[in-house]
Amino acid sequence: MRRVVYDADEIARRVAELGREVTGAYPAGDLLVLGLLKGSFIFTADLVRAIGRPVCVDFMVASSYGAATTSSGNVRLLYDPATDMAGKHVLVVEDIIDTGRTLQRLLSLLALRQPASLAVCTLLDKKMAPPIPEVRFTGFACPNAFLVGYGLDHAERYRHLPFIAELAQE
Ligand code: PRP
Repeated sequence: MRRVVYDADEIARRVAELGREVTGAYPAGDLLVLGLLKGSFIFTADLVRAIGRPVCVDFMVASSYGAATTSSGNVRLLYDPATDMAGKHVLVVEDIIDTGRTLQRLLSLLALRQPASLAVCTLLDKKMAPPIPEVRFTGFACPNAFLVGYGLDHAERYRHLPFIAELAQE
């Protein structure tokens, strides 16, 4: 059983607004939109079409790993974008922030590449993690529930759903 949390129309309206916010925030310079796969594949595709200024688009694949007995992990880039980031405005696109660990570690890696600026646009934020200053654009402050759809998965299922739903516990 699932409950729809954000339907397709609600998502489309918010993504259009985010596109306008991003457009206004970057009046000049090279803007590189970096989607974090896999969860952000649909959001990134919709967001870049809502941005009314030139952008370059690339993706990253990150993998969290580390000792299972510790609360801290590590993030390794399985696909590292070929694009040179030096001197460019880099906007990382994330689907959801939960503990914030993925993003925190990724941001420290990307900061080493000397972008002109480094910011994050996340569709969903559970607001459970300590605030991350780079998170400049947020779609929805979402419930602390297991959400699927619009890119988000449970065991690789449900990513294709055009809405976001809460996966009910059996
Ligand atoms: C999910 C999600 C975020 C991350 C959020 O990715 O897409 O990237 O977890 O969690 P955190 O804030 O606690 O780090 P996942 O590792 O499930 O991979 P996916 O994007 O391929 O679904």
